[in-house]
Amino acid sequence: MNAHTLRHALEAIVGPAGIVCDPERMASYLSDWRNAYRGKAALVVRPATTGEVAAVVRLCHEQRIAVVPQGGNTGLCGGSIPDDSGTQVVLSLTRMNRIREIDTANETITVEAGVVLQALQKAAAGTGRLFPLSLGAEGSCTVGGNLATNAGGTAVLRYGNMRDLTLGLEVVLPDGRIWNGLRGLRKDNTGYDLKQLFIGSEGTLGIITAAVLKLYPAVRSTTTAWVALPSAQAAVELIGIIRGLCGDRLTGFELMSRQSVEFVLSHVAGCSDPFAEPHPWYVLIELNDTQPDAPLNQVLEVGIAEALERELVIDAVLAQSEAQVSALWAMREGISEAQNHEGPSLKHDISVPVSSIPAFIEAVNQRLLEQFPGVRIVAYGHVGDGNLHYNVSKPIGSEDAAFKARQEAIMRVIYDVTMDLHGSISAEHGLGQAKRAAAKHYKDPLELELMRVLKETFDPKGLMNPGKVL
Ligand code: FAD
Ligand code: MLT
Ligand code: ZN
Repeated sequence: MNAHTLRHALEAIVGPAGIVCDPERMASYLSDWRNAYRGKAALVVRPATTGEVAAVVRLCHEQRIAVVPQGGNTGLCGGSIPDDSGTQVVLSLTRMNRIREIDTANETITVEAGVVLQALQKAAAGTGRLFPLSLGAEGSCTVGGNLATNAGGTAVLRYGNMRDLTLGLEVVLPDGRIWNGLRGLRKDNTGYDLKQLFIGSEGTLGIITAAVLKLYPAVRSTTTAWVALPSAQAAVELIGIIRGLCGDRLTGFELMSRQSVEFVLSHVAGCSDPFAEPHPWYVLIELNDTQPDAPLNQVLEVGIAEALERELVIDAVLAQSEAQVSALWAMREGISEAQNHEGPSLKHDISVPVSSIPAFIEAVNQRLLEQFPGVRIVAYGHVGDGNLHYNVSKPIGSEDAAFKARQEAIMRVIYDVTMDLHGSISAEHGLGQAKRAAAKHYKDPLELELMRVLKETFDPKGLMNPGKVL
């Protein structure tokens, strides 16, 4: 089928509003937000219903055309970007943005894949409830992308990641059949849990079109603190103290190195250092409660006082207003953007057991600074989940190309230590195209073999997001 015939066949399914083919309008679908990955496509198709997704996929299956599912295109591993053949079809779910049902008695919400995470959070809030997934890209990422990457973010400590928040899925399979698994059940032991295969599969096994998600009681009290620490070891001890005092009311515990904070102070407008002096490490702590006026400040003050006594904390501020809460979160969530202003940065999204975080940082810092003098280490992340974004920016004044040439060697140092500590080379961002080769190198061969068997079973023609994950 030539490009012209393909366009007409797809237009017959989705109508003219569902086709994007002029190069200018296509551009935003063909590169990621950092411009780290770029591709070409035959066209972009934007179906508006599950039936239209199924018809598009069936046609592509018959014609042996590869399909690249795309949501908000905020992924960090190039999973939603086509290759450079110009033959693949990008299937954007952004028109599938309806909230289908809210079942307050079952505490569930059924939404289509193209619903933007922030719109989902607002819909939940409108019923006095909470949808707890929260991440820096929530204004543009979609539920389908959150599911396909098993997104984590800043509230995993209390509520879990997308896998934990999902009860049912609707999926268009690679041959165009529709699997309706939209069940809102908290118990269902009728064999294999198929939805879990699609969650985290990064569009390689099928296209998620809708989901039944869990709702939680709304949060009515919050306390947020910005705390300076002498070491990452102190952060691990502090989380133990705070959790011991308030259990699962500890919702967020985000670690940031001084370098991360310095980048934000230099590049993100309106941010200012809460302390007069610089300190080696910081954590942003958030406690939540469903009770109004819960005594969270007192609980946190008790924890911080104990930590001060044990010299685990150098200084701390508790936010006194909504504006201060937002300002502290802006510092944390601005790190990614701030790093873009400092030239190329190499992103590593690793996890190790929480107890191994200090050993990881010590070993990698030492080896990197020895082998690559001057590199700037921007380590931060969801340390309560054992998840660090251990990013590396180029030395001041060095050439971009020279730094990029060291990417592989730097990655090896970081991933070798990760594996020595029984960790993972991708905690929450997935593999996409960025970490496909690394996964081949570092993952257990038996696990890779089982994954290939699954891929072959679901997608024998290899048309669903080829070149990603495996
Ligand atoms: P896309 O980028 O469009 O796609 C991501 C992958 O999912 C691709 O492989 C794509 O093919 C596949 N896909 C998309 N939709 C579907 C579908 N309907 N069916 C099947 N496959 C599909 N991630 C975290 O986990 N935690 C964070 O804290 C976090 N913070 C971020 C902060 C910033 C500033 C940015 C830019 C990104 C951050 N991310 C984070 C990464 C990203 O936002 C998440 O991975 C998000 O879940 C991707 O959603 P999306 O709709 O943009 O997906
Ligand atoms: C974050 O937690 O800010 C993102 O997952 C990390 C990133 O953008 O690299
Ligand atoms: Zn993150």
